[in-house]
Amino acid sequence: MKSAVHKTSLVVRKNRELTAILEVSKVLTTSFNLDKNLSSVMSTLGSLLEMQRGCVFLLDRLSGELRIVAAHGLAKHNIERGKYRIGEGIVGRVLEKKTPMVIPNIGKEPLFLNRTGSRPEKDGISFLCVPIQFKNEVLGVLSVDRIYSKELGGVDDDLRVLEIVSSLIAQFVKLWESYEKVEKEKENLKRELKGKYSIENIIGQSDRMQEVFEAVYRVAPSKATVLLRGESGTGKELVAKAIHYMSPRSKGPFVKFNCASIPEGLLESELFGHEKGAFTGAVSSRKGKFELAHKGTIFLDEIGDLPTTLQPKILRVLQEREFERVGSEKTIKVDVRIITATSRNLEHLVSQGKFREDLYYRLNVIPLFLPPLRERGEDIPILIDHFLEKFNRENNRSVVFDKNALRIFLNYNWPGNVRELENTIERLVIMSASDKITAADLPVSLSIRRLKTPDKSASLITNVEEIEKANIIDALEKTGWVQARAARLLGITPRQIGYKIKKYEIAERAVQ
Ligand SMILES: Nc1ncnc2c1ncn2[C@@H]1O[C@H](COP(=O)(O)OP(=O)(O)OP(=O)(O)O)[C@@H](O)[C@H]1O
Ligand SMILES: [Mg+2]
Repeated sequence: MKSAVHKTSLVVRKNRELTAILEVSKVLTTSFNLDKNLSSVMSTLGSLLEMQRGCVFLLDRLSGELRIVAAHGLAKHNIERGKYRIGEGIVGRVLEKKTPMVIPNIGKEPLFLNRTGSRPEKDGISFLCVPIQFKNEVLGVLSVDRIYSKELGGVDDDLRVLEIVSSLIAQFVKLWESYEKVEKEKENLKRELKGKYSIENIIGQSDRMQEVFEAVYRVAPSKATVLLRGESGTGKELVAKAIHYMSPRSKGPFVKFNCASIPEGLLESELFGHEKGAFTGAVSSRKGKFELAHKGTIFLDEIGDLPTTLQPKILRVLQEREFERVGSEKTIKVDVRIITATSRNLEHLVSQGKFREDLYYRLNVIPLFLPPLRERGEDIPILIDHFLEKFNRENNRSVVFDKNALRIFLNYNWPGNVRELENTIERLVIMSASDKITAADLPVSLSIRRLKTPDKSASLITNVEEIEKANIIDALEKTGWVQARAARLLGITPRQIGYKIKKYEIAERAVQ
């Protein structure tokens, strides 16, 4: 009768062992979370096989220490205490010898260090410890406590189960390690990519600028027409040059032409050249910009200002790469790459009939938008460093910004973008008496904004406009009301200052 009961309990026991092993292998494949999975393993062993305390120790290869990664039936402070060196205590022994150990009654075993301090009453408890190994490499140790009663299996059964569990753990740990490695590599790669695109002399760590750089890398090798868009001072010319110098035409000429810079009557001959006697004053024949840019790149700045009369001729160059000089019927063919730029709203000009739609589409093959500085504040500190370094070097100075000055720079909204920032820093480096720039040294244009407490009753627009008006008057005062100089001071174009003077009705009589 007794043996029948014993048999039944053995079958129950075997079933439990199988269930435990199955559970463990399930738990280990639920995720790549090392701590969570191993903790579940330990509690499975606890609940299905009456293994009271249990621990998974993993070897930290750097420190050579065994560390408890998961435990069952141990308080947190005990876990933290449970560190073993290789060869120390039973756990250390098992790791070193790569063989399981069983201490039938830990109360009588001097090797048992009880580092975790969790067994005040040692008698009657047996301690089982197996190595966790993958092929020949020992990764750690699995240990459990058991109180044996005659009915419930023996040590050998337990060891067998623990060895199976530990080999499952070993496989999981190996998988987890390679998963962690791949994840780390992915992270590193991402971090590298963030600063991956760099272009000489163009500063920009922000995502927005990194996107621009990436696009530059992509378009540079081709001959595609690029349209650069962005507010004044955002670096359109800088990017145009970068594209040219990063392209296969880098050894050819880079010819820049500003479509807004000269009177309409002279534009055609400037761009396409003329023959001797083509018009009054044409005493000799002359090559135009397109011819000069042969085998290189032509950069047409302020393309939105191109008069409608000239637009068809430009369209033809874009399509056929050919034209005639003024006063000549001979067709000239050129090999040029065309890059254009504008800070104006071309779509608006098209809808107003000031810009030909067909030309717009021809130019707009690859549009590149340069973000205004106020939308990429994270670039401001590195731009400051860049320009401080540049102007300190040029002027043999070692000027730095203090925290407050830096804060004002970060809060200012830079309507003149990088150019305004560059000019401001150059002025500060040259003019500053001391080597430390403080808030008090900053130009009024930046500090007005700082001193001004927002008037809650007025709309934001009015506030901004008031400040802008004050800045313009300030700049005009400083430059003897010479608009072009005031514009330069503010980092905006003469055209923009003219427009703003009219808009704010700044005393016309004082303005020449
Ligand atoms: N990202 C940048 N890094 C370093 N310098 C920059 C950057 N962007 C612009 N600059 C500097 O700012 C100044 C203005 O740049 P750039 O002339 O290219 O602007 P732009 O967009 O052509 O302006 P505009 O429309 O007024 O002609 C230049 O001195 C340029 O070197
Ligand atoms: Mg420009």
